[in-house]
Amino acid sequence: MATKTVKKIVPQPHQMKVLNSTKRYILMVAGVQTGKTVTGAIWLYLQINKNPTAEFIIGAPNYKTLEQSTMQKFFDLFPVKTLGHFDKQRMVLTGKSGFKIWFRSLDDPDSIEGISAKAVWLDEAGKMKRKAWVNAMGRVSATNGRILLTTTPYALNFVYTNLFKPWKDKQKGFDEIDVFQYSSIDNKYFNKQAYTDGQRMLSPAEFARRYNGSFTKLEGQVYADLFDFSGDIKPGVVVDTLPEFEYVLGGVDWGWNDPAVVIPVGVTATDDVYLLTEFYKSKTPLEQIREVAGSYMTKYKVGYYYAGKDQPGNIKYLQTHGVACNKANNDIDWGTGVVRGLIMLDKLHIHSSCINTMDEFRTYQYTGDENNQSEKPLDENNHAMDAIRYALASHPAIPMILQQRQYLDKVEEKDPETVRFWQLVEQDIQETRTQANNGGYNTDEFYDSINDDII
Ligand SMILES: Nc1ncnc2c1ncn2[C@@H]1O[C@H](COP(=O)(O)OP(=O)(O)OP(=O)(O)O)[C@@H](O)[C@H]1O
Ligand SMILES: [Mg+2]
Repeated sequence: MATKTVKKIVPQPHQMKVLNSTKRYILMVAGVQTGKTVTGAIWLYLQINKNPTAEFIIGAPNYKTLEQSTMQKFFDLFPVKTLGHFDKQRMVLTGKSGFKIWFRSLDDPDSIEGISAKAVWLDEAGKMKRKAWVNAMGRVSATNGRILLTTTPYALNFVYTNLFKPWKDKQKGFDEIDVFQYSSIDNKYFNKQAYTDGQRMLSPAEFARRYNGSFTKLEGQVYADLFDFSGDIKPGVVVDTLPEFEYVLGGVDWGWNDPAVVIPVGVTATDDVYLLTEFYKSKTPLEQIREVAGSYMTKYKVGYYYAGKDQPGNIKYLQTHGVACNKANNDIDWGTGVVRGLIMLDKLHIHSSCINTMDEFRTYQYTGDENNQSEKPLDENNHAMDAIRYALASHPAIPMILQQRQYLDKVEEKDPETVRFWQLVEQDIQETRTQANNGGYNTDEFYDSINDDII
């Protein structure tokens, strides 16, 4: 392939640094209009030049971005007819020298399965699911290939956890990663007025994220208090070893295309609450969920599970197959209030194996923008979040911890249904504690008494 196919565009110094990196995984995390997509296009072209008969993947988070931004800029710089032939049906370009570029929308991360790629470029990776990253690594594993991710830091997703953070903290594998952070004004073609306007009109966190490409605490995070200002989970929350527990409960969130989640939660004598491990897997047969829940009963001494009430048949199945389980309290304000209360009191701890759960904590958001935020969290990135909410907020003993520590007064004032729930909890609490300690709490009775008033 001749380099004269490249339109006359000269990489700027900040783009050259990315293009010159020899690392296997490269992250360019930068503000809007920094020249990320242009850099990605040139980088992929350089990889083709080095491997003229290999296969390549260009991915975007959704079809619209893929077609209207990523592909469009790529073909602006490297027109189809100079490269080879583009099959729009299969979204694959076959090059004159024999290479192939697969263009993929990674809202379906499995759409790249089966491709063995020498290089992958993921544009706007911050909007992708973790699975897109896992699959992309799989695609380059056999070829010892490389991956470039270009993105604005939209959310603290895998880009943060799997690339930025290990690189910043020099964790295992960091020497395979290069990170380049740029601000919008590093692009000399960027409209500087937009930067000044942004500085004036946006909150400091939003401005830093959009224009300076820095990971700051996101506005609108449901559990923002779990994170410190740099966006890391606060010290002391994530643990590698587990203490003794007074009692252990479990939460189950059903899913098929979305992951099914089972999480056991242990409570210590000092009222510290630990997420012990996570089962997090899509397309899991009910039988397997039962096995997992059963094995946690033995391994972690889970006394009782609370499961999503959307699948009463599944709950029945667990009940009749040896798993103590009942429908969860699905009041979302109540549940997120309980989880947030534990966070505020520094009582929530997460075992380091709960990777997906930590990811969800980072990305679990309220709907709407920061000025017009709804009370309800977005119905996404919430599978582990729901399982935890079920386990923590359905059983009265855990909310009781919050009341004893005077956290729940606020909740009572806000929500009359919760007040009623509390009255019942109080009546029941002494008995509950004793029985929960023995793993034999009779939730049927408890729920019959409060019935569908609040559940
Ligand atoms: N080296 C360059 N020479 C000339 N123009 C450039 C160069 N790099 C980027 N540009 C121009 O700057 C603008 C922004 O580039 P690009 O679209 O790559 O940025 P981006 O960071 O991907 O933007 P967005 O945040 O909108 O996705 C485009 O108009 C592009 O043509
Ligand atoms: Mg772009």
